[in-house]
Amino acid sequence: MIRKAVIPAAGLGTRFLPITKAQPKEMLPVVHKPVIQYVVEEVYSSGIKEILVITGKQKRAIEDHFDRYNASNENNYVDELEEILENLDIFFIRQKEQKGLGDAVRYAEAFVEDDPFVLLLGDNITIPNCTGILMSIFEEFRAPVIAIEEVPIERAKDHGIIKGEKIRDSVYRIEDMFEKPEEPVSNLAIIGRYILTSEVFDYLKELKSGYGGEIQLTDALRNMVLDGKEVYAYLYHGRRFDIGNKQDWLKANIELGLEDEEVGKALKGWLVGFMKKELM
Ligand code: G1P
Repeated sequence: MIRKAVIPAAGLGTRFLPITKAQPKEMLPVVHKPVIQYVVEEVYSSGIKEILVITGKQKRAIEDHFDRYNASNENNYVDELEEILENLDIFFIRQKEQKGLGDAVRYAEAFVEDDPFVLLLGDNITIPNCTGILMSIFEEFRAPVIAIEEVPIERAKDHGIIKGEKIRDSVYRIEDMFEKPEEPVSNLAIIGRYILTSEVFDYLKELKSGYGGEIQLTDALRNMVLDGKEVYAYLYHGRRFDIGNKQDWLKANIELGLEDEEVGKALKGWLVGFMKKELM
């Protein structure tokens, strides 16, 4: 039974400068909500009640967002969030130095203890909920499992990439993996949803810096695999938006905006008219 979730949200968001000079990329709005709220909601709808968010410099807005809201104005969106917060314990810890995802995850060791846990990158949205599926695969294999998707091969160098043996529909046993490889061995890209066991901390401790001079989670998992440990990958078929990427952020706002009850219809009308003019 998985009871804990960890959300690293410490990255600098340099791809979003100057927006991220003074606000975290995890607080970028997607229709009505900041992206990290989608992630917290994914955790909540998977039945997990304890979350550790790993923040860092200039990330205080994230903590403020998950405070209770005291104003008397009625607002359904706020009420929805309040209801969720009522049932969650959210803890925060700050990464002291910007040393990469692998280093950030190390800050979760005391929180996780010896339990398996879900790791969700705070700048990725998955619809429908990817965590729930990963949890059921973990129950079956009792080994770490990470979500992947097929990306166009030219985008593989922007991701962690796995090489694996397909053991059944959508499930691979990982044979090797590489962080942002120049020459990708496949187009199976890591999408920021993982179920990990506490063993990963032993591997993270041993790591030297990797891609970009940072401590990479992918390298720790790779070393586990090369040591003969079982690590699985699940090919997620839903929609995933990587909000760390500008184009995906805009796409998320358009796609989810079009589906939204409040603004969808008007947005669609405008978009159709706009596209007609563009194509004329
Ligand atoms: C991180 C991971 C990478 C993964 C990606 C998904 O990289 O290190 O393996 O593919 O998230 O968004 P980042 O995008 O934080 O550089």
